[in-house]
Amino acid sequence: MALRIDPWGHTTIKEYEKLFQYFGIKPFKELLPQIDKPHKYMTRGIIFGHRDFDKFWKLYKEGARVAVLTGFMPSGRFHLGHKMVVEQLVYYQRLGIDVYVAIADAEAYSVRKIPREETIRIGVEEYIANMIALGLDPDKTVFYFQTKQDPRYYRLIQMFSRKVTFNELEAIYGELEPAKIMAALTQVADVTYLTHRDLGGYEMLLIPVGADQDPHLRLARDIVDRYSRELGLKPPASTYHRFMTGLDGGKMSSSRPDSAIFLTDSIEEARRKVFRALTGGRATIEEQRKLGGIPEQCTVFELYAYHLIEDDRELEKIYNDCKSGRLLCGECKRRAAKLLEEFLRKHQKRLEKAREKAREIAEEVAPEF
Ligand code: TRP
Ligand code: SF4
Repeated sequence: MALRIDPWGHTTIKEYEKLFQYFGIKPFKELLPQIDKPHKYMTRGIIFGHRDFDKFWKLYKEGARVAVLTGFMPSGRFHLGHKMVVEQLVYYQRLGIDVYVAIADAEAYSVRKIPREETIRIGVEEYIANMIALGLDPDKTVFYFQTKQDPRYYRLIQMFSRKVTFNELEAIYGELEPAKIMAALTQVADVTYLTHRDLGGYEMLLIPVGADQDPHLRLARDIVDRYSRELGLKPPASTYHRFMTGLDGGKMSSSRPDSAIFLTDSIEEARRKVFRALTGGRATIEEQRKLGGIPEQCTVFELYAYHLIEDDRELEKIYNDCKSGRLLCGECKRRAAKLLEEFLRKHQKRLEKAREKAREIAEEVAPEF
């Protein structure tokens, strides 16, 4: 049976290793020795795979013009899963690499059917504002809405349509509708237009995304191949990170508020979610003392690994204490809740200022209707 990833679906990817076999995504850990100061997601195996990251990195080190670009669908509240991507952008920006962020308002409108004004409001108030509050430098970042792009970007989308067949798209995406085809081709423009000599002229782009976005990147690479002579676009490099599990054990999603911690959750709400979260603990205290917990299957451990603990040794200690039965879930959750509270308090303070800045930016970049 063919394995297919649905970028608009609600399925969780359980076996990341399969993506290596089926789709030719390469394991990221082999590249670690080349990276001087890797991000914690790299050392912890959270960024698990890539396409052409080695080429991108080599160009970056040689001083070639490269940039990082990613995109967000403005369809709901900003949560810890989104924060994962922003952390990576901040990391690359601090290395001196240009950063671009697409607000995928066209996709949110046509595929997710979010009202137009909502996509714009959410794009500014939730996405751009939270990204700035998380440390993305507003003066060094290019934010753009898909529907307010340069006409030449739209021209690319029109031209791409000539180079793909319906069968090919169906093989990648499964069941299709015009809105999804448009969204896919629009995303191909996002991940390629900056390599056009008149639209940015970058040697290469790196696209950090969750693994569910790989179908779009495969399509982009195919289209670029077919156009290499005609348009001079270059294939994107990409990295893939694991998703955080929803706190309730399913997929983390804005549509199920208890599955996610939103960056605007009140301290009370956030605490409640942590205390209710699914852990890798045993049924009774005695059992846990004897057998130890299972941090590999614990959403609280994920909170530590993805967000709350910077120091690898400290994280390892929690892991070992859990495994050995020394640490029990109650105590562990209290510590996570406290760290989360500290983060949210700081973040929400920064967010007030960031909102003002986001509105300023919006005057230039937000669509008028
Ligand atoms: N499809 C992405 C999502 O669902 C959003 C997106 C649009 C994107 N354009 C992009 C992501 C370019 C990465 C690069 O979230
Ligand atoms: Fe998870 Fe902590 Fe319980 Fe271990 S002790 S299972 S890491 S909550």
